[in-house]
Amino acid sequence: MNYPCDNTYLQAMKLASTFASALVVLCVAVLPLLGSAQGQEPPKKEINFDKEIVPIVKANCIACHNKDNAKHNVMFPDKMTLEDAKKNARLWRRSGREVKAGHMPPKGNGTMKDSERKTFVTWVNATFPMPAAPATPPTTGGGGSTTGGK
Ligand code: HEC
Repeated sequence: MNYPCDNTYLQAMKLASTFASALVVLCVAVLPLLGSAQGQEPPKKEINFDKEIVPIVKANCIACHNKDNAKHNVMFPDKMTLEDAKKNARLWRRSGREVKAGHMPPKGNGTMKDSERKTFVTWVNATFPMPAAPATPPTTGGGGSTTGGK
């Protein structure tokens, strides 16, 4: 038998499904943008390295981590500058980790306040964000493909 509409129908379905996936991709891409545009950004309070971080390190860390006494090869210079700090991501990331875990300063040494820990860790995380995890591993097809054969 002859179905004159068959071809057109299939064509239309194919088109519709392509369009649908395109639409989904578009929505997924655009939604977060809309979301962030609507929500009022809370004012971000920048932590000042010189005024907040340096005093915390001087008060809580430098006694055991200075150029004459660099415990575990961890050394904070006498004069800390943001520029130098930024070149030393490893030191600060490690420090952030230790402080967050409560390992540093060692128990019974000094009195690092919770607020200081928080400031320190927040600053480290903001200044040295972990390298982004590799994006979802490349799948065949380059994304947006539908399952099932063509
Ligand atoms: C009383 C001395 C003392 C103070 C104060 C101190 N540390 Fe330490 N730190 C040590 C010693 C000892 C080690 C090595 C042994 C260990 O990990 O416990 C160490 C190790 C470290 C390490 C390396 C950990 C690792 O395994 O990679 C980091 C990072 C560190 N300290 C950061 C800090 C920071 C940041 C502060 C201040 C918030 C601080 N320390 C305060 C004595 C101290």
